[in-house]
Amino acid sequence: MLKMTNIRKVFNEGTVNEKTALDGVSLTVKDGDFVTIIGSNGAGKSTLFNCIGGSFYPDEGSIFLDNQNITYMPEHKRAVEIGRLFQDPMKGTAPHMTIEENLALAYLRVSKKKSVFSRVSNADREMFRERLSLLNMGLEDRMKQPVGLLSGGQRQALTLLMATLVMPKILLLDEHTAALDPATAEKVLALTKKTVEENHLACLMITHNMHSALEMGNRTLMMDSGKIVLDISGEERAGLTVDGLLEKFSAGAGKALDNDRILFSKVE
Ligand SMILES: Nc1ncnc2c1ncn2[C@@H]1O[C@H](COP(=O)(O)OP(=O)(O)O)[C@@H](O)[C@H]1O
Ligand SMILES: [Mg+2]
Repeated sequence: MLKMTNIRKVFNEGTVNEKTALDGVSLTVKDGDFVTIIGSNGAGKSTLFNCIGGSFYPDEGSIFLDNQNITYMPEHKRAVEIGRLFQDPMKGTAPHMTIEENLALAYLRVSKKKSVFSRVSNADREMFRERLSLLNMGLEDRMKQPVGLLSGGQRQALTLLMATLVMPKILLLDEHTAALDPATAEKVLALTKKTVEENHLACLMITHNMHSALEMGNRTLMMDSGKIVLDISGEERAGLTVDGLLEKFSAGAGKALDNDRILFSKVE
C-alpha cells in the first residue's frame, strides 16, 4: 500500500550545516500493517513522515501510495489519504472554534462536498455526535464549546477523530502521546489501537516508549542516522523484551541507543 524506495533527504546541502536526514530509506507497508517506529534523536523519523505527508519532497527516491506515485504530489492533495497527528495537542485543532466547527472543517476537507458553499447537514452533525460519544470523554455534550477549553488528551482524541472521520489510507502518528501525562497517554493509545484495528488502517507510529513500541502493532522499525537499522515482525518480535530490543538495536546500528527519553521509558 505504501512503498518508498531509496529516499534521500539532505538539509542545508553544501554548507557547514549539511545534514543527511534520510540516507537511502526503503520501506514497504502492507494493507493493515501497524508499524511502530523508535530511534535515536535526529534519526530521521519525523523527516520520514514529512516526506510521506508531503511537507517537503525528498531529494532522491520515490513514494507510492496504492500504486500512485505521490513523491511530488502537493501536501494538501495527499492530505485526504494521509491522516497525521503530532506531539503537540495544539497543532491539530483550531482553539477558538467549537468542537463541532473543527469537525465540520475536517469533514468538508476530505469529504466529497468540496464546494466553498458546502455546509454540514443535520445528518452530518448527528454523525459527529455519535463518533464523539465513542471517545467516552463526554465531548458529545460539549459540541458548542471552543476546543481551547479541552485538555491535551481530549484534544489529541479529537484530532485522532478528525483524522479518521473519513478513513485515510494511512495514519502517521509522530509521538502523539508524548506530551500527555501517563494515564491520559494510555487512554489515547488505547483509542488509537481501537481505531486502527477496527478500521484495518495502515498506521505508522513513532514513539519513544519501548513498551508501546513492542505492545502495539505488528511490526517495529528502529532508525538511526537516517537509516532503518532494524525491521522486526512475526515470531522474532513476539517474544521480544525491551532489553532484547535494545540489544538488537545495538547490533543493527553498531552502537548503543543514545535517546534518554527512550531509555527512561524502560522503567516507566
Ligand atoms: N527543516 C529542517 N531543516 C534543517 N534540518 C532539519 C530539518 N528537519 C530536520 N532536520 C535535521 O534532520 C535530522 C533528522 O531530524 P528528524 O527527522 O526531526 O529526527 P527525529 O524525528 O528522528 O528525532 C536532524 O539532524 C535534524 O536536525
Ligand atoms: Mg521527531
